[in-house]
Amino acid sequence: MVGVAGGIAAYKACHLVRDFKEHGDSVRVVPTQAALQFVGAATFEALSGNPVSTTVFDDVDSVQHVNIGQHADAVVVAPATADVIARIAAGRADDLLTATVLVATCPVIVVPAMHTEMWQNPATVDNVATLRRRGITVMEPAHGRLTGRDSGPGRLPEPEQIAELVRTELAGYRMGQGLAGKKIVISAGGTQENLDPVRYLGNRSSGRQGFALAEIAAQRGANVTLVAGNTEKLPVPSGAKVRNVVSTAELQAAMEEEARDADVVIMAAAVADYRPAHIAESKMKKGQADAELSSIQLVENPDVLKGIVAKRDAGELNPNAVVVGFAAETGDATHSALDFAKEKFLKKGCDLLMANEVGEGKVFGQSDSEGWILSRGAAPQVVAHGSKHVVASQILDAVQEIMSN
Ligand code: CTP
Repeated sequence: MVGVAGGIAAYKACHLVRDFKEHGDSVRVVPTQAALQFVGAATFEALSGNPVSTTVFDDVDSVQHVNIGQHADAVVVAPATADVIARIAAGRADDLLTATVLVATCPVIVVPAMHTEMWQNPATVDNVATLRRRGITVMEPAHGRLTGRDSGPGRLPEPEQIAELVRTELAGYRMGQGLAGKKIVISAGGTQENLDPVRYLGNRSSGRQGFALAEIAAQRGANVTLVAGNTEKLPVPSGAKVRNVVSTAELQAAMEEEARDADVVIMAAAVADYRPAHIAESKMKKGQADAELSSIQLVENPDVLKGIVAKRDAGELNPNAVVVGFAAETGDATHSALDFAKEKFLKKGCDLLMANEVGEGKVFGQSDSEGWILSRGAAPQVVAHGSKHVVASQILDAVQEIMSN
């Protein structure tokens, strides 16, 4: 079922319906009354080949909401406005769309589209967190041009990306609970290294990729532990346990402890490679020690990923654990980002490496990422420019592939 809420992006739902139909899916479109202000019922009926209604009072004898909700393989709400997200979060059933979502037991994917201010409003943030806690996948909106002159996060992702996410979610769901009973440990976010009680060295990793992995792994039945570095603002996915850490030393200790009995270990965190050699016990004052402040002595941090691979290979962890690393790469005059990624894959010794090309505002803190999945004995798999949820699904597919061999 494709639910369509009343926003300007409703026209993109037409492309989404067409994409599903071209892949041989049968589609029921359930718009809200407001959505029909943007796209007429006749358009959705013609594209889907099915009748369209907005209320439970049409065609009452077939009890439409129960019928659609019980029989759908997937429910995708695209675009989902702030209003429809609020109504779903509140468990309301005041039209056919929300009533159907309440009945559905299949995967539900909500794809928000709204102005940046509405997306970032604490009410919406809370509602999205509620949906995710309940196991609904909420895709991150894309960044870009919105209605009018504004631009920012809040744009509906492209229909092909939405369809791709729905397909990978469904494949994962049908693979069953391919990860049922498996313990997956995922590091997410970035580590921070203290300079004094109020200052630190850190990076801009938002943690979104690690959290998307946790969300999808939990939906596939895994028992998920997130070791999260400085990601306080992100909602904890339903079914995942979170251990918050700040520094690389804390992250390493938590990862090595959690990895002991893990089936899969994913290092999605951006780990600080260096830390200050000395941490001042009290706040450094301006002018206090100019010489001390003008250069900061750094010492190298341990490589957590390499350490985990070494421990696994030494039999200190589950010897069959699948270990996944990440790499953020830029190319240079003689090497492409992919060349560097291949080098890093060999150096780290992990089973899979998700390599992202970074630079020009790509990846960190953005909702889109692009890159390659490297795995031994296989050609690099290009990961299409997609949402972090799509990337997460593809990484977990590759993990499941290795586990099934
Ligand atoms: N990583 C780690 N411990 C570190 C640094 C990185 O476990 N001290 C992990 C990251 O979580 C990621 C992978 O190693 O999974 C690659 O991280 P990246 O920063 O790209 O690699 P580096 O080894 O730091 O290489 P460089 O910065 O020189 O490219």
